[in-house]
Amino acid sequence: MQTCPGSPWPGVIQRYRPFLPVGPQTPIVTLLEGNTPLIPARALGRRLGRGLQVYFKYEGLNPTGSFKDRGMTLAVSKAKESGADAVICASTGNTSASASAYAAQAGLRCVVLIPKGGIALGKLAQALIHGAQVLAVSGTFDEALELVRQITQAYPIALVNSINPHRLEGQKTAAFEVCDALGRHPDYHAIPVGNAGNITAYWRGYREYFKEGIIDGLPRMLGFQAAGAAPLVKGRPVARPETIATAIRIGNPASWEGAIEAKKASGGLIEAVTDKEILAAYQFLAGQEGIFVEPASAASVAGVMKLGKRGFFRKGSVIVCVLTGHGLKDPDRVIKTVRLPKTVKPKLGAILSEIGL
Ligand code: F0G
Repeated sequence: MQTCPGSPWPGVIQRYRPFLPVGPQTPIVTLLEGNTPLIPARALGRRLGRGLQVYFKYEGLNPTGSFKDRGMTLAVSKAKESGADAVICASTGNTSASASAYAAQAGLRCVVLIPKGGIALGKLAQALIHGAQVLAVSGTFDEALELVRQITQAYPIALVNSINPHRLEGQKTAAFEVCDALGRHPDYHAIPVGNAGNITAYWRGYREYFKEGIIDGLPRMLGFQAAGAAPLVKGRPVARPETIATAIRIGNPASWEGAIEAKKASGGLIEAVTDKEILAAYQFLAGQEGIFVEPASAASVAGVMKLGKRGFFRKGSVIVCVLTGHGLKDPDRVIKTVRLPKTVKPKLGAILSEIGL
């Protein structure tokens, strides 16, 4: 895999190769994912006060618009290395968008199972345009994932959900980037939690950097689930999860233990935020920070706002909030949230009067 002249970023596999299970024979399938910005959260920092330094890890700027690309570059490269000619996943949308893009580049067939009516329009459009075979299952994400497990146990088709260990290996590179950018570890790491792969992956990444002596401490992991889809908070699966944050509408997370381990070992927490709190954070991010995310991504910010109100954070500490997916993924949510444009006559006077000039 060659990089473009003048573009020094080689994608997460080449950048973090010593930390990843790849060899010289592994074909690298990459869209040059990763290297996403760590943006100072000025408005949120002001709102929280107490000298807190807050940053957003804006994962919506990955090639397919979500953090999934970090895991998918590795999962699809390994699938190709193993000689697979097809990949399959269940998805609330972003995994399917990412899988279909990487499969397209690798020349692999891609099948995705989505919960019918449960994924945002942009994600569906992505999977379709990349040429995946998309099946809308009239059930939940959890049911679709169970079917995918059964299929991949019996047939030669590579599973690229986060129960594929290569996915989490790729995703842990986001923790490396956070530390590389800060020159240290954050004190707190806030993240939305659905199937719980990403919180597991970040915790692994931080621990590996710690073990290598690259950082001298570890963040407390703060996971946030939507209140209507909060099995890890309740301590039991939720049969019919409900939330406007469709990406994290999951009732029985595959990486349940990984999330609990990250919480316990880091002295962190996993809490629920309501759809109302998620939408307030979603609008705050777009309106005050200039960052457009999909609703699930706003869960981390909603959680930090909530904890901030109860004085949870130690003065002067460093907080990183992961913004997992781009706002353009879910245009319907914008339309349901904001006031739509007013129609005006093509007359100067009409427009001047509307804009108050
Ligand atoms: N944020 C976004 C935008 C997501 O798409 C997901 C998961 C999460 C957060 C939660 O991450 O599952 O690792 O805890 N989306 C998966 C999918 C389930 O199918 O796209 P997690």
